Amino acid sequence: VSDVRVELGDRSYDIVIGAGTLDEAPALLTRHQVGRRIFLASDPCVYELYGSDLEERLCRDGREVVHLLIPEGEKHKTLETVENLYTYLVAQRADRHSTLVAVGGGVTGDVGGFVAATYQRGMPFVQVPTTLLAQVDSSVGGKTGVNHKLAKNLIGAFHQPALVIVDTQTLASLPERQYQSGLYEVAKYGLIYDADFFRFFVDNLQAIIQRDPAVLEPMISRCCEIKAAVISIDEREQGLRQILNFGHTLGHALEAAVEYAGVTHGEAIAYGMLASLRLSRAMGLLDEATVDEVSAALLDIGSLPAAAGIPFGRLSDAMEHDKKRRDGHSHFVLLTEIGATLIQDDVDLALVAEAWQSAVVQAETATR
Ligand SMILES: NC(=O)c1ccc[n+]([C@@H]2O[C@H](COP(=O)([O-])OP(=O)(O)OC[C@H]3O[C@@H](n4cnc5c(N)ncnc54)[C@H](O)[C@@H]3O)[C@@H](O)[C@H]2O)c1
Ligand SMILES: [Zn+2]
Repeated sequence: VSDVRVELGDRSYDIVIGAGTLDEAPALLTRHQVGRRIFLASDPCVYELYGSDLEERLCRDGREVVHLLIPEGEKHKTLETVENLYTYLVAQRADRHSTLVAVGGGVTGDVGGFVAATYQRGMPFVQVPTTLLAQVDSSVGGKTGVNHKLAKNLIGAFHQPALVIVDTQTLASLPERQYQSGLYEVAKYGLIYDADFFRFFVDNLQAIIQRDPAVLEPMISRCCEIKAAVISIDEREQGLRQILNFGHTLGHALEAAVEYAGVTHGEAIAYGMLASLRLSRAMGLLDEATVDEVSAALLDIGSLPAAAGIPFGRLSDAMEHDKKRRDGHSHFVLLTEIGATLIQDDVDLALVAEAWQSAVVQAETATR
């Protein structure tokens, strides 16, 4: 079991990572001063798989647990779902000392976190991420929120969890495509921050794809360490934290362009990263050999859904609504070498369009 500490003054917290950590959940909650009354949120599928066991275990430990079901899927990451949860909390007389425990993927974590951030101006919150993407990314860092129909994650709040429990055994039941999607975010950490970790990823890709328990814990821990290091320097995304958005300007635009259907978040940012590599090359920041090497590694993770039918205009429209725009400019995280980035605000849209097209062609060719 590894422990990664997120240093944020009096809001610091631990990420506990290992195989079977959920069995230790009651003791972990006690050690981290989580109160007796728990609202356990998950989607029906995850509740069935892990939530109900956890609920039982916590009840046996003398806690009072009420579970809340969040409908499954990105399309339910909405204010309507949030409102329904508030209603339930009011009906159950939840107060500011009750703890909301989100068990599931990034959707459950983001919705549950937003509810915890805002219900009675904030209640304690614990993340139990069960997708790879949530374990390496969304459960750490305190960003919570929901989508607006015009833009992703437009409504949100910062609310750090009190504890994150990662049980790597939960990944065993994750569908292949969801697991792969998380791997794109894993690769991202190496690319933006840690060349050695990127090498580890490439060298162990087969074991990683097979979910070999021997590589899961070190891999997830390193991702959490990197994210923790970045957010303890820049919690509110004033500067450094922006590097975590590598591939995300275009990735989020793609998700919005297809209305969050048919492409997972990880797949969308895989496209975004492929295009950003080419954009970095076109702007003279990155050499061709690195573009080829990194693109090949990303495409080795698995095949991507076709994106050729989506006109670039739909993406550029979506980018206009991106909340990360500043003074009318979308920012792009570019790569200067493996492990090093540069943030650029005034990128020529024609270059972006070109980079996008060639990324789409490249993904298509790799899939054939
Ligand atoms: N807050 C942040 O900092 C942050 C960062 C990255 C992504 N996100 C958000 O995370 C969301 C994507 O998260 P996601 O990829 O986890 O998707 P998700 O939450 O939709 O989960 C994907 C699917 O996997 C199922 N599932 C979850 N755990 C499982 C398990 N162990 N076994 C079998 N099935 C399981 C779920 O029921 C769901 O159908 C997006 O909304 C994205 O915006 C947030
Ligand atoms: Zn992401």
